[in-house]
Amino acid sequence: MTAVAGARIGELPVVDRAEGCWIYDVDGNDYLDGSSGTLCVNIGHGVREVLDAMAEQGAQVCFTHRSQFESQPRRALTEEIHAVTGNRFREIVYTNSGSEATETALRLVLHHHNELGTPDRVVVLSQYPSYHGMTAGALGISGHPARRRNLGGLLAGAADLALVAPADPDALVPDASDWSAALERVGADRVAAIMVEPVGCAASGGAVVPDQTWRDLRELCDRTGTLLVADEVMTGFGRTGAWLAHTGSGVLADLVATGKGLSAGYSPLGACLVGDAVLRGRSAATAAIGHTMNGNPLSAAAALAVLRYLTRHGLVDRARAAGELLRLRLDELAGCYDWVGPPRGRGLVHGLPLHQSAASYAVEPLAHRVCAAARACGLVVYPAGVDHRTQSLLVAPPLTISDDELDELVRRLDSALRRTAEAQGASSR
Ligand SMILES: Cc1ncc(COP(=O)(O)O)c(C=O)c1O
Repeated sequence: MTAVAGARIGELPVVDRAEGCWIYDVDGNDYLDGSSGTLCVNIGHGVREVLDAMAEQGAQVCFTHRSQFESQPRRALTEEIHAVTGNRFREIVYTNSGSEATETALRLVLHHHNELGTPDRVVVLSQYPSYHGMTAGALGISGHPARRRNLGGLLAGAADLALVAPADPDALVPDASDWSAALERVGADRVAAIMVEPVGCAASGGAVVPDQTWRDLRELCDRTGTLLVADEVMTGFGRTGAWLAHTGSGVLADLVATGKGLSAGYSPLGACLVGDAVLRGRSAATAAIGHTMNGNPLSAAAALAVLRYLTRHGLVDRARAAGELLRLRLDELAGCYDWVGPPRGRGLVHGLPLHQSAASYAVEPLAHRVCAAARACGLVVYPAGVDHRTQSLLVAPPLTISDDELDELVRRLDSALRRTAEAQGASSR
């Protein structure tokens, strides 16, 4: 395991192979996958059981359309998802991605209100900042200006968006009073849903929604007939040390969008978990319609093997324990640089805030420079945030990472931060 210092900054290496937490390029350099790609490869690369399950399924049947056949892996996957999420959802609607999962949730929300005879409920309250995906509907309810830039025409037809930012300038997530004020401003009879990321990742770099805010949101939604949607595309299926990140609050959202960690990068798959209150008496899958490849047998077999692997190896608990160690190490590291803030996050997803002036951020975000330096030091981390206030590095390695590998991750990150500081004359303590 040697990091080759000569890796080029600003150009992407060409991947050759990957195993566990390690990725190797065609030039023989190794990279510690410190962000699981983009919080996707939760069980690490090259897991034999998953590859075998996919090969076996491929030999049986890769594709049949869900309107023509049920498949064995899909049926078993549905049972497994119900089991790990405590049998609290009515239905699972499959998609190919996280964006499709949040957009499916949005479609179900609109169907729900239309069928209840309240078609004027078309406004979705969403956090600022937030990111829910790149399809038009998902981006249409995202508080991510850079990703929405130039796309106004495409987003105009999506559900109406009301962004909810915290009134407190030091807070990163809105609290109960921010949400109720927004609901009152828009008019409760016009609000279709409140969409929340339990841990804001791409947009807010590890900002955690407190448990009390979830409870307040549940109460607010129940009182006003609004649906509560949790976007758990980044956090779902173990990443934060729980199968779902928001349920530790004692609250269950009406709809939960998932993706990424569900199939851990082995084959594209997302899922929208549908609660009892949504479209009562009607099949959500039929209402959502969906895309050709949704829930195809091959992806279902991959995800089933991933969930079984997570369970068999106790990786959800491991995420919690390793997350504590990661936070400790990142805290120590942040203390060495006056332009790096203390980590925020939960389990194995942490954001490390980077301080930079607005003017300098506009020229080039520091997070991009640190990520390039990290690559040169043999480490993959992920730049997050929508402005100089929220900019951060996301550190979110596979849940299989060992303590030694965590130490190595932090060593390489330290080298990357030092390299960045030296390149720009920034100070380190
Ligand atoms: C919270 C959240 N929702 C949705 C998405 C979109 O998922 P995908 O890229 O799989 O479409 C992302 C992607 O980063 C995300 O972070």
